[in-house]
Amino acid sequence: MAATRRLANTVAVITISHPPVNALSSSVRHALVKEFGEASRDPKVEAIVLNGSGRKFSAGADIREFGTSAIKTVSLEDINSTIEASQKPVVAAIEGIALGGGLELALACHYRVADIQAKVGLPEVLIGILPAAGGTQRLPRLIGVPAALDVIVRGRHIPASEALKLGIVDEVVQGNALDAAIQLARKVIGYPLNKKRLSTVRISSDSNLEDFLDTAVEKAKKQFRGAKAPLACIEAVRASVHLSYHQGLEKERQLFFSLWATGQPQAQQYAFFSEREAGKWTHSSGARWDTEEAKPIRTAAVIGLGTMGRGIVISLSKAKIPVIAIEQDAQQLEVGKKAVNSLLEREAEKLKQQGSVPSSNLGSVHFTLDFGELQDVDLVIEAVYENMELKKEIFRKLSSVCKPDAFLCTNTSGLNVDEIASVTHRPNQVIGTHFFSPANIMRLLEVVRGQQTSLTAIATAMNLGKKLGKVAVLVGNCPLFVGNRMLGPYLEQASYLLEEGYYPEEVDQAMEEFGFAMGPFRMMDLAGLDVGWRSRTEKGLTGAKVPQGTPARQRLGSRYSPLADILCESGRFGQKTGRGWYQYEKPGGRTGKPDPWVKDFLQKYRKTHQIKQQPSNPEQIVERCAFALANEGFRILEDGIASCPEDIDVIYNNGYGWPKYRGGPMYYASSVGLPKVLDTLEKYYKANPDVPSMKPAFLLKKLAALGGPPIKEWRTQVGKPVNKL
Ligand code: 3HC
Ligand code: NAI
Repeated sequence: MAATRRLANTVAVITISHPPVNALSSSVRHALVKEFGEASRDPKVEAIVLNGSGRKFSAGADIREFGTSAIKTVSLEDINSTIEASQKPVVAAIEGIALGGGLELALACHYRVADIQAKVGLPEVLIGILPAAGGTQRLPRLIGVPAALDVIVRGRHIPASEALKLGIVDEVVQGNALDAAIQLARKVIGYPLNKKRLSTVRISSDSNLEDFLDTAVEKAKKQFRGAKAPLACIEAVRASVHLSYHQGLEKERQLFFSLWATGQPQAQQYAFFSEREAGKWTHSSGARWDTEEAKPIRTAAVIGLGTMGRGIVISLSKAKIPVIAIEQDAQQLEVGKKAVNSLLEREAEKLKQQGSVPSSNLGSVHFTLDFGELQDVDLVIEAVYENMELKKEIFRKLSSVCKPDAFLCTNTSGLNVDEIASVTHRPNQVIGTHFFSPANIMRLLEVVRGQQTSLTAIATAMNLGKKLGKVAVLVGNCPLFVGNRMLGPYLEQASYLLEEGYYPEEVDQAMEEFGFAMGPFRMMDLAGLDVGWRSRTEKGLTGAKVPQGTPARQRLGSRYSPLADILCESGRFGQKTGRGWYQYEKPGGRTGKPDPWVKDFLQKYRKTHQIKQQPSNPEQIVERCAFALANEGFRILEDGIASCPEDIDVIYNNGYGWPKYRGGPMYYASSVGLPKVLDTLEKYYKANPDVPSMKPAFLLKKLAALGGPPIKEWRTQVGKPVNKL
């Protein structure tokens, strides 16, 4: 049943019942109309309370119904208007969540009571749309335009205590919100309801408000780069200031349909569901997320407190897991301890602001140099330098010190997990947990299964990812795994573009206008150019190991761009040295400016190597970089390193600043049309046979020959994966 009704004395309690999150599907909406109508007509009922089953009010409209005929049946706003107009007081009892249409339904009620754990919000913007059941019109009338704009444009989930301060809810209770709502409903029987009907409230407009909205538009354009939904949200809120409620509602509706026509909501909703699907991993043995049991992780350890280790410690602590943090010497331990403690203080401050007690919500952190203290931990995450010999030394130690059933994880960004596992007595307990920087903030976690990794280890690492609030994606073990492997051809193209006449700022601008959070050169400067340089030196692609007589722009018969190597040889490592592809105000500076040195260097380089200059064409920049990424994605699917294109997209959306409104590189390739992607790659490869990464992948050809089937059908065309390790 989609909604039920019972009587508590003279209060009718209508409970939405659509597990797991009480999404307001067509059947729920019909049930609400029926139950609400009957309660309104029932002379025994003097007040009405709305709540949700399973201690969740509602996660809003049923996203799966968008684009189907189900959405066209009774509208949520019609229900909201009926509730608001009710002569009997209506109280929303908010437990767990009231999001999107769920909060809009609650805003139509005359009063709202929330439990202290509840979160409310209008996160529609995150799935490419705007609140479309009156939310953009009622919320500004309730809490004012500036506060409403912040809630709607950022789409954040607001804790109950903050919702109370903002005035979104009337009461927050420690205990049972339903009981409190029933009590409140009884108390307000007979009270006048006019002021509680938000659609009747007037917002007074002044020039400051106009300036505020104009500034918000400019800010949103910069911050959300090409995403249409935040701008539509601002326009809808602007309508609440200038138009009557009903005209504003009409504007909200029009904006919804114009957003839908851009294709961005479809891409973002694909991204939303792909993230949820990523957790439902499958294994070639037939084992799955729901057949394998994860072991509980009660205590953990982190080895190495550098850039990554610090963030990993904070992530674990935020998930209330006590951590032992280890460094190589007293000095490094002190540096790491200071950094971790300062991050922990910030987390504690945030918790205090949310009304929570830090000591009961953060796991303790114990700092030590003694590996002997690790004998009882359930799981260890190694985050020392990216060096195979060092990693092996650490894993040998861990294997002898830790209890036999402890899981040993490595945060390597691309080394062979099997080789690391091979030095332990328990390769089945070894697994890659590849966090992204900063690890306490970035949502992505690549979980890398080795040849011998047990299903329990996979289940445990995937479960830990969820517990840490990450999006964990299970991938296979190959050099650089999925995300970083795809980055190779992308950065290679970016470099070739410089050789052919572009400058770093032009390539970055094109990719940022496409929607990337950061163009490739800004990204390299941030990450540090020395990291890749060290790895290329180790591989003999640059430095002393390169055989005498090797042409400057060729390695192993393929094209090679030595530009980044030359920058590193000049001490230009990026932000950390104050110079890289850009110049910075100081070493460690964040604001990069185009550097005349780089311009001069590129001009001389092109002259020396007599490279033919391409006419400027931003579209070509995007095509070459984005198609190079996707082409490698097809190869990764062929190799069985990612189990589906959706997983690759989740990785790019959450770890590499890919614009979610373009769905991910595989979704993008699909939306551009696989025949077009194939044609572009074929032309490029024909003209540049020394760039093997642009040779169209076999799977791409196969799918293009089928006319580019929908992305959900690609899985069936992959065939038997070949692990190329
Ligand atoms: N519609 C349909 N299905 C939904 C849904 C929704 N609004 N919200 C969640 N689900 C589904 C998920 O796909 C998942 O399904 P599965 O079990 O088959 O994979 C299941 O519910 C559980 O979701 P999560 O795995 O995400 O569970 P969590 O507990 O981690 O998170 C949540 C719960 C915070 C509610 C999160 O799911 C979420 O953020 N949901 C989306 C909320 C949202 O965007 N609401 C706005 C909808 S649009 C709208 O309301 C338009 C209105 O203005 C008219
Ligand atoms: P880092 O250089 O910032 O930190 C490494 C830390 O390990 C240092 O503090 C060092 O003192 C410590 N260490 C070295 N030997 C040790 C030992 N024997 N015992 C205990 N501690 C020891 O390195 P970073 O960037 O944190 O990288 C760590 C790992 O994470 C590497 O494998 C790297 O490839 C990977 N990674 C790095 C990312 C990044 O953006 N920096 C992103 C994702 C993964």
